[in-house]
Amino acid sequence: MNNITIAIDGFSSTGKSTVAKQLAKHLGYVYVDTGAMYRAVTYYAMRQGLISKLDFNKEALIYQLPNIEIRFKFNETLGFAEVYLNGENIEKKIRTLEVSSYVSKVAAISQVRLKLVEQQQKLGQNKGVVMDGRDIGTVVFPDAELKLFMTASAEKRAKRRYAELLERGDQVEYEDVLKNVQERDYLDSNRKDSPLMKAKDAIEIDNSNLTLDEQFKKLYKLAVMTIEDYE
Ligand code: DC
Repeated sequence: MNNITIAIDGFSSTGKSTVAKQLAKHLGYVYVDTGAMYRAVTYYAMRQGLISKLDFNKEALIYQLPNIEIRFKFNETLGFAEVYLNGENIEKKIRTLEVSSYVSKVAAISQVRLKLVEQQQKLGQNKGVVMDGRDIGTVVFPDAELKLFMTASAEKRAKRRYAELLERGDQVEYEDVLKNVQERDYLDSNRKDSPLMKAKDAIEIDNSNLTLDEQFKKLYKLAVMTIEDYE
């Protein structure tokens, strides 16, 4: 079977990573969560005291970019690769509402994008990859054989993210989660560098009314059909 590149883009909390992981597992492909990389840089900035509610020292972050090493390491038990920042496993630490509240500002910096896009292109250079993010089908792999663009209403997405955060034991309010989802939609879609948009040749999937199983079956079929097309 031929290896292809599957690019999954879309708004935050549309379940991109869930279906991307499922597809990678069933196809024997590598899964790359590019949002985790932007979150890792954000977490670094928070730790260094470069970003807070009142202030963001962009210049210092740009200057310190060479000190940031992001790696993925496959966790056999979890069945997916966890993200490491300078050797430390930060997979859980980057999923908080606090990181979510800063990440779009960090992701708007061109120097950050340049560094991460280069790494993403290397990770996917041999194909056989499912990569999810905001600019995978438009910037990282504009020639990807299969491009998916996921959407769902902001309320549906906020409900899903809220349930996830509660399950982790985080103390959050639904209204704050909804506000964060809406703010990130706006910032991610309106930034100058690589804004979130649907690639011309991407297939749009609105999963507001699809169960996870329905969604997986639909996308798996699309992936297998595309792989067969390229054989
Ligand atoms: O997919 P996520 O919610 O974990 O992504 C976190 C943020 O990172 C998101 O708000 C926008 C940014 N991002 C990006 O700009 N480009 C990507 N390829 C992936 C994520």
